[in-house]
Amino acid sequence: MTDMPSEQIINASIAVQPPDETALFRVRDLVAGYGSIMIIHNLNIDIHEGEIVCIIGPNGAGKSTVFKAVYGFIAPRSGNVYFGDNDITGMNPGDILRKGITYVPQGRSTFPEMTVEENLKLGMFIVNDRRRIDRAMERVLEMFPRLRERRKQLAGTMSGGEQRMLEIGRALMLDPKILMLDEPSAGLAPLITKQVFNNVQRLNQDYGLTVFMIEQNARQGLAISHRGYVLELGRNRFEGTGEALLNSAQVQRMYLGGAH
Ligand SMILES: Nc1ncnc2c1ncn2[C@@H]1O[C@H](COP(=O)(O)OP(=O)(O)O)[C@@H](O)[C@H]1O
Ligand SMILES: [Mg+2]
Repeated sequence: MTDMPSEQIINASIAVQPPDETALFRVRDLVAGYGSIMIIHNLNIDIHEGEIVCIIGPNGAGKSTVFKAVYGFIAPRSGNVYFGDNDITGMNPGDILRKGITYVPQGRSTFPEMTVEENLKLGMFIVNDRRRIDRAMERVLEMFPRLRERRKQLAGTMSGGEQRMLEIGRALMLDPKILMLDEPSAGLAPLITKQVFNNVQRLNQDYGLTVFMIEQNARQGLAISHRGYVLELGRNRFEGTGEALLNSAQVQRMYLGGAH
C-alpha cells in the first residue's frame, strides 16, 4: 500500500465500476426521456440475485424515469436492459411482468374500496388458475401476518404503512424474481418508514427476494442495501456498497445532508 490519502481511498470505493456481465439484471448505456428531451444518459446498473440495490439522487435526477424506461412505460432511445439471458429492452410492461419482474410505483396504488384480499388478487390478474391464486394468497399472507389479520378489511381504512405493505404484498403474489420499489418510504412518518424498510430487509433475508429500489430517504435506503447507485442529472455519479456510500465524506456532503 502506498501513502494514498484517505479521502482518495474512500473515493475509490465509490467510483463508478465497469459493468459486470454476470449480474442477473443489467442496464447498459441506457438513454431515455420524454419526447425529444433525454433525461437518462448512458446509464449502467447491475443487480445480482439476492441483492437489494438502491438508486439515490436529488429530486428530478431521473430515478423514476429509469424505472419507467426499464419497465417499458417509456421506450428507451438507446441502450439495453437484460434480464438473465433475455434482452427485455422496450418490452411492454405486461410481458416484463410475465418474465418475473414486478413494480410498485411511486405514490399510493391500493384500491381503497376493495378488501386486502381483493387487492392482493389484483396482483394475479394475469393468472386464471384458481388454485394457483389460492396458493399465492397463502404464501403472501404467510409473509405478512398483519395482512392476514386484516384480509377482510377495506384497504382505504388501513394506515399508510399497512397500505404500503399491501402494495408490496400484491407485487409478491406472482412470486417475482425481482421486485422494483419506487420510493417505498414516500409520505410515511419516520417510525413507519423504519417498519417498511425492516420489512423489505426481512423479505430479502428470509425469502432471498431481489430488490431494485429507489429512495429519496437515502440514508435509510442505503442502510438496508447491499449496493447503491447515486444518480445525478440522469448519469452514474457514484456507486458502491451501501456502507461505502454512507461512509463517504463526498456522498454525505452532497446527498445525505452532512455527516451524522
Ligand atoms: N411524463 C413526463 N413528461 C415530461 N417530463 C417528465 C415526465 N416525467 C418526469 N419528467 C421530467 O424528468 C425529469 C426526471 O424526473 P423523475 O425521473 O421523475 O425524477 P426523480 O424520480 O429522480 O425525482 C424531471 O425533470 C421531470 O420534470
Ligand atoms: Mg421519482
